[in-house]
Amino acid sequence: MYAEALDNEFAREVRAGLMRSGQKTLPCCYLYDDLGSALFEAITWLPEYGLTRADARVIQAHAEDLMECLPPDILVAELGSGTGTKTRAVLDQLGRRQSVIYYPIDLSVAALEKCAQDLGSRGEVFPIEASYLDGLREVAARRAPGQTLLVLFLGSTIGNFEPEAATDFLHAVRLLLQPGDALLLGTDLVKPVEQLQAAYDDPTGVTAAFNLNLLARINRELDGDFDLRQFEHVIRYDAPAQRIEMHLRSRVRQTVAVRGAGLTVEFEANETVFTEACHKFRPEQICVMGRTAGFRLEAQWIDPEWPFAESLLVAV
Ligand code: AVI
Repeated sequence: MYAEALDNEFAREVRAGLMRSGQKTLPCCYLYDDLGSALFEAITWLPEYGLTRADARVIQAHAEDLMECLPPDILVAELGSGTGTKTRAVLDQLGRRQSVIYYPIDLSVAALEKCAQDLGSRGEVFPIEASYLDGLREVAARRAPGQTLLVLFLGSTIGNFEPEAATDFLHAVRLLLQPGDALLLGTDLVKPVEQLQAAYDDPTGVTAAFNLNLLARINRELDGDFDLRQFEHVIRYDAPAQRIEMHLRSRVRQTVAVRGAGLTVEFEANETVFTEACHKFRPEQICVMGRTAGFRLEAQWIDPEWPFAESLLVAV
């Protein structure tokens, strides 16, 4: 069983990240197995983590303004839709002027099923189980002449990319679009460090569990022997980079085997594994990032309670 695991992408990335000289890393995409996704959902309910509620509030408050910026005959595609909860307000507004066609794109079949069930009464929902770009390619191939695509990329997921990768990703999205197509991009904004610390190191320990689950996942899927009690969740704020970093710190000097990745790793006491970067933006940086990727900023709406921006970028 584990010989097979040795060759899979997860095993390869765990091996590469933990064998690095210098800062050990693990890719943040692996935080989201079933348990990790449930823990992330719990994070969105934390009073200290205002990001998701702010995202939903701005969309709700400005769905009508958004429609006024768009031409007729819109198709909506959402990258990483999950269950599409935040998208309801957009589809409801759209439904007032035309029939709704919505393509939620996600890797989670369960989330897509729930999305189709919950939003199916608002129009035609065509779930696409794929990565962001593969899914968008599929949508682009299905569009009819004269239709304009509105792509939603919400929740500040773009903040989990390294800055250069974020621009490259937006450029890759742009290449799948036609001039006049639109991208609604949700981004968390820079805010006081105390607020960010509380959001990413909540007193109930939900974010700590979310982070530690990555080691538990390695144990489950790659026959690892991480003792979770010998690691702790720590966060750092890198002010110049405008980002919160999540790390897992080894409490002691220890050796850990991950048989499914063919790996034995040594940890010094206090050594960390860097698991996720959560970048925060200034409103004007979103404009620059969009422009570099081939878009112009058409409109930007900001939540007054928890600084979070919804930016409407139009493909040029
Ligand atoms: C999914 N992403 C936008 C979250 C964030 O805030 O960067 C992930 C997260 N990590 C810890 N808490 C939330």
